Amino acid sequence: ARGVSGSGPVLAVDQGTSATKALVICPERGVLGTGRAPVHPRHLPGGRVEVSPQELYASVLAAGREALAAAGEPVAAVGLANQGETVFAWDPATGDPLTEAIVWQDRRATDICTELAPYEDKLRHLTGLPLDPYFAAPKMAWIRRHLTRAGTVTTSDSWLVHRLTGAFVTDAATAGRTQLLDLDSASWSAAALDLYDLGEEPLPEVVACDHPVGTTTAFGGELPLTGLLVDQQAALLAHGATTPGAAKCTYGTGAFLLAQAGGRPVRPTTGLVGCVAWQLGDRTDYCLDGQVYTAASAVRWLTDLGVIAGAHDLDRVAGQVPDAGGVTFVPALAGLAAPWWRSEARGSLSGLGLDTTAGHLVRALCEGLAAQVAELVAATGAELGSPLQELRVDGGLTRSSVLMQTQADLLQIPVVVAESPDATALGVAAAARLGLGVPLPEALFAMGRSSAVYEPAISPTEAESRRAAFRAAVSHP
Ligand code: G3P
Repeated sequence: ARGVSGSGPVLAVDQGTSATKALVICPERGVLGTGRAPVHPRHLPGGRVEVSPQELYASVLAAGREALAAAGEPVAAVGLANQGETVFAWDPATGDPLTEAIVWQDRRATDICTELAPYEDKLRHLTGLPLDPYFAAPKMAWIRRHLTRAGTVTTSDSWLVHRLTGAFVTDAATAGRTQLLDLDSASWSAAALDLYDLGEEPLPEVVACDHPVGTTTAFGGELPLTGLLVDQQAALLAHGATTPGAAKCTYGTGAFLLAQAGGRPVRPTTGLVGCVAWQLGDRTDYCLDGQVYTAASAVRWLTDLGVIAGAHDLDRVAGQVPDAGGVTFVPALAGLAAPWWRSEARGSLSGLGLDTTAGHLVRALCEGLAAQVAELVAATGAELGSPLQELRVDGGLTRSSVLMQTQADLLQIPVVVAESPDATALGVAAAARLGLGVPLPEALFAMGRSSAVYEPAISPTEAESRRAAFRAAVSHP
């Protein structure tokens, strides 16, 4: 409960798209134990991406238990980060899932968005979010229309928390990913619910990210669950981004640029999303958010084709050639998000020749990812009223120096790589400590020094010409 001493380790569980990671972490001694369990989303025709809810839950248990066993000492609390816009129907009486989980990358709800197009401005004003099947509400409405009207349909966090504690809640930051949350009041919007024909739904209670929601015995012993936060916002918190203007980009399954925007709602005009960063105690903070739907997903795609052996192989293969050899790759393998919002967009490769090699394709992929992030950085600077001076980054793909150098080149600002690969877990660990009564900034964990800084190595003119080539390829695939 609030007010008790927050000293001692906490268990932070990061339930992501491709894996669940868990850390036992202590402010004084750092990471005491880690656990990891893969999850296996299925990529189906028609832009569908599904995963088994039971696999998500099993991975939370496996990763959490592995981390606790490795640490070999008790924890004071648990924090749970979630992947955001992944939804399914489940039975509140039994806790059983009623459908597969529709993953955030899934495009099947495009038709629902098309139907709601006349109300896009209204929805954007109410919730800060544009119409796109990425968000939770279109997928929730799709499930109701096509799969089942039984039970409740929620984001994955509500079900995981229900399984763990019996509570029926979601945190304000995750709720802000649905397009059903009123941006000003950070409570469910009756108007948005009506537009999606979800007005009669039993909805989870929206709670603060540091609200103790109950206890769980799932990890052994009885532990309070005191931190809930959607993953990208958790990573932003881990970067210590508690003041407006602080920004980060996480290169995970997708790549997500978030910038702290302070205590007042933001309604961007550049195509970025304005949403809740977190609610801690009584205070709600907001952020700007831009998305690249396929980052490690695009790397996996190249891997499945046999072009590379995996993400660890990017730099070796890219190192075989000095540049992309005139190849342009728009890696829109699951549509384009901010600032374009073209859910129907497909990936494209152009400029191929008989002399094109695997190295050219890898460099073109790095350039395509970096060019998208560069558009998001530019939009963020425009919203904030001053350009970013550097980009702080985390996530698995930051281990590719070719990608990070390309990113610095196209941005023309330094790219600063976080030493810790676990920003999301560190962020939700901080929320869990806040839930134990530890105040900010004491609740934050050190992200370590930066492990690398990449300085731009091409001229501004060259950077602009490469970005213009990418924008042209997006416009004329
Ligand atoms: O919005 C989806 C995003 O938060 C998923 O994160 O780490 O699985 O790419 P990640």
